[in-house]
Amino acid sequence: VSLASYNTFRFDYPAEYFAVADSLEYLATLLQWANAADQPVTMIGGGSNLLICGAISGLVIINRLKGIDAVEHSNGSVTVTASAGENWHQLVRYTVEQGWHGIENLALIPGTAGAAPVQNIGAYGVEVKDVLTRIQVINTHNGSVFWMDANECGFAYRDSFFKQQWKSTLLITAIELTLHKESELTLEYGGLSAHLSEKPSLQEVFELVCRVRSEKLPDPSELPNAGSFFKNPVVSQTAYENLKTRFENLVAFPVAGGMKLAAGWLIDHAGWKGKVRDRVGVYDKQALVLVNYSDISAAGLLALESDIKASVFERYGVLLEREPVLLPESARKLELEQP
Ligand code: EPU
Repeated sequence: VSLASYNTFRFDYPAEYFAVADSLEYLATLLQWANAADQPVTMIGGGSNLLICGAISGLVIINRLKGIDAVEHSNGSVTVTASAGENWHQLVRYTVEQGWHGIENLALIPGTAGAAPVQNIGAYGVEVKDVLTRIQVINTHNGSVFWMDANECGFAYRDSFFKQQWKSTLLITAIELTLHKESELTLEYGGLSAHLSEKPSLQEVFELVCRVRSEKLPDPSELPNAGSFFKNPVVSQTAYENLKTRFENLVAFPVAGGMKLAAGWLIDHAGWKGKVRDRVGVYDKQALVLVNYSDISAAGLLALESDIKASVFERYGVLLEREPVLLPESARKLELEQP
């Protein structure tokens, strides 16, 4: 089966075995089959944070587990449970319609609810870890299903244990968020407040985030991409000050351990914004996003990535790190072994 329609870069590589899981029972049966046949398992949600660069051996499972539940508590908090295959943006829209605060800044992020914790999605000063309380997982080896506390999952900037050491053993089947009927809005980041009235409503913030994102980021259904292709790198205060004397307009934010540089700025000011090459390119409104105009193989994109990294390193002495997950696992291992 071709995976072209299951990854938003639309790269065309096959899965050896392929199935769509729409219930926990069926998912457990699929895992049983994979174990008996000694086949590795790869789970895909919306495919919007993936870079597939080769055929995937073993069983690829598309997560289509559906269902949203909510319980309002007397203290004003709301427990929202969403099955992993629910569309993330639809979930955000639903919670905003109910008047529940917490994920409005994460509107219009492509992908599924179950993929949100994997890379700890974030935007405009909010990360999903801020509202995640529990995560339901299935163990790929024995099929047991259980809930884990969110604080056991190693959440960090665009990272979690699900993206790392738990990759092949624990698959996310549902998430539990704690939202609030009344809460402060997060408006400091990315100049949101400048576009809003003094006391904006939850709905207004949601709509503004949707507008800002659609102005800056390409819709993957129109122009294949996987959102930010690089993480914003963190450098020491000293390294930042040195760079700032050479590049006075450099954009950075203070974080624990130093300064987080805007990778989009670095790439843009190294001259890459809007570059088109071999059917792939750097998006012309946001240099952090790489786009695929019409390629079916990932080779051109990987070459572009590597040239951007080299150019940014040469100019600023900063190493960029890729954000989307590389598949197949064999390609990722090969990359890790390289110096
Ligand atoms: N900038 C440039 N040129 C560019 C792009 C950005 O000069 O081509 C500058 C901007 O002017 C701005 C700064 O860089 O001063 C930061 O840009 P922006 O506000 O667009 O945010 P970002 O740091 O590039 C991050 C996330 C996005 C998220 C936005 C808003 C990462 C890797 N990316 O981007 O997340 O939507 O902040 O919160 O952290 C994603 O992860 O896929 C993603 C889109």
